[in-house]
Amino acid sequence: MKGIILAGGKATRLYPLTQVISKQLLPVYNKPMIYYPLTTLMQAGIREILIISTPHDLPLYEELLGNGSNIGIDLQYKVQPEPKGLAEAFLIGESFIGNDSCSLILGDNLFFGSRFKESTKRAAKNNQGASIFAYHVDKPHAYGVVEFDNENRALSIVEKPEKPRSNYAVTGLYFYDNDVIEIAKSIQPSGRGEMEITDVNSIYLENKNLKVFTLGTGTAWLDTGTHDSLIEASSFVRTIENRQGIAIGSPEIAAFENKWIEVEQIKENFSKYPSNHRYTESILKSLNT
Ligand code: G1P
Repeated sequence: MKGIILAGGKATRLYPLTQVISKQLLPVYNKPMIYYPLTTLMQAGIREILIISTPHDLPLYEELLGNGSNIGIDLQYKVQPEPKGLAEAFLIGESFIGNDSCSLILGDNLFFGSRFKESTKRAAKNNQGASIFAYHVDKPHAYGVVEFDNENRALSIVEKPEKPRSNYAVTGLYFYDNDVIEIAKSIQPSGRGEMEITDVNSIYLENKNLKVFTLGTGTAWLDTGTHDSLIEASSFVRTIENRQGIAIGSPEIAAFENKWIEVEQIKENFSKYPSNHRYTESILKSLNT
């Protein structure tokens, strides 16, 4: 399975913070935001990853992450010239995906939880149909919303409904078989002019090929679309890291756990930021080295 991180968009709700820099490069406590979704894909066992961003910001991601070899992965980069919607990622990434299955994660979505990690590993191994994750939230109307029947089967998914039929938001992590490319090609832009991922998921649902997993209370799903949610995400990471003495959203740890790199490589990576002892020590501590 391949993976795509979509880190485009204008993030106008965060202006002036994002007036000259991509939102997904902003800090979430002690790391750039994109580290968290990158780590999520790596934890799922995905090693070939395409980063999509704006023409202005893509070079910054390349400067930050390079070709990925120092964290045991293969990173590629492609431009999304205009923010034409999440589903466009599959058209931009068509040649990268080839005949493979593909996961998509939004560059501003943060997940945390050990059970969640296991679910993503399972979803990444499944090469048939689509798997998405739903999460109970207080205010679902800002998201894609799933409606379930009495037996917990998904009935519909509606993008940003005025009157949500449930409190279950669709999170920004999706796993698809190779049909996603043709399905993405078949959809029309929505009223807001975007190729909606919800339309792709609705087609899988109609074809009875969509699995919706609900994430329980042991999993945290945070997004970072507003100033408040951005600082809440930072506080969350800070609280857990300080209390437990472990690092969250560390690609180095994910690579090490997957046996893609050795500790020596991690130490070499850290030589780039010798002044940040706290960060490097917390990662090495997490590895029990
Ligand atoms: C997008 C999707 C939406 C999903 C959300 C998760 O919304 O369109 O279905 O629930 O991501 O973060 P957007 O970020 O475009 O508002």
